[in-house]
Amino acid sequence: MKQNGIDTFFGKRIWIIGASSGIGEACANALMASGAKVALSARRVERLNIMAAKAKDNHWGSALIVPLDVTEQSQVEEGYQTILNLWGGLDILLFVSGVYVPLRADNFEYEAAKKTIDANLIGPMGAVATVLPHMLRAHCGHIAIVGSVAGYSGLPKALAYGPSKAGIINFCETLYYDLLPTGVSVHMISPGFVATEATAQNDFYMPALISADQAAQAILQGIKKGKFDIHFPKRFSGFLKFLRILPYPIYFWFVRRFLAI
Ligand SMILES: NC(=O)c1ccc[n+]([C@@H]2O[C@H](COP(=O)([O-])OP(=O)(O)OC[C@H]3O[C@@H](n4cnc5c(N)ncnc54)[C@H](OP(=O)(O)O)[C@@H]3O)[C@@H](O)[C@H]2O)c1
Repeated sequence: MKQNGIDTFFGKRIWIIGASSGIGEACANALMASGAKVALSARRVERLNIMAAKAKDNHWGSALIVPLDVTEQSQVEEGYQTILNLWGGLDILLFVSGVYVPLRADNFEYEAAKKTIDANLIGPMGAVATVLPHMLRAHCGHIAIVGSVAGYSGLPKALAYGPSKAGIINFCETLYYDLLPTGVSVHMISPGFVATEATAQNDFYMPALISADQAAQAILQGIKKGKFDIHFPKRFSGFLKFLRILPYPIYFWFVRRFLAI
């Protein structure tokens, strides 16, 4: 049994949460350029306004601005209601939003860990809980969530980020299993390093670094094809997939040897 893909994004109603920068912004621009109707969500409304104005100038598909904070579930629900009122439904939820705070054992802070889990794991769960009832009734729709290869297995400086993304992997796997017979597609997106505001703070070498536009292309192609497991760039994500099946002593040796950051 294979889940549904999409022939064209033209005219599709797409909600991008985390659209104001980086991977989300690149996805939004590509989708609007394809003629999709895109609802842009994030906290920095001024950046969303600039994106919508650019879409208008270029005569791209329409943009709807839905400012929200994913850690406030009432704002997510209100945002969805706005979309329903204007569009009557939603074809794709693309949850991109995420935060990264480098945390190691020697600076591990409860508040930073809680904020990360709230934004990266509880946030997507809240958005899915909001859109799922309508998609289930309609027997169609797409739920795409951006996790990270950092969720595959433990990596340095990711003491809260890693668990939040590991949670996304498990959440998507379980969602996929439940939704496959219903006609609702699930896309689990695991990027490697992408050059964005989030990674600009990294003070170490990032192997196989790609641009946000390249990441957006990989994501949108994967959704079109109906893929569940969308991971990229393959030379890096494939290597990390291999690492996680190794016995722990070998795994930790590799991490220490090649990712000693
Ligand atoms: N860049 C990478 O190398 C990489 C690798 C693997 C996975 N990822 C994942 O890819 C996703 C996008 O990351 P990025 O690199 O593009 O980062 P980014 O440029 O910092 O973008 C993050 C986006 O999330 C939004 N956001 C953050 N907290 C939010 C909140 N509480 N409520 C609403 N929106 C919020 C931000 O908007 P506002 O600040 O305006 O709210 C922004 O639009 C994240 O989930 C990240 O974990 C990135």
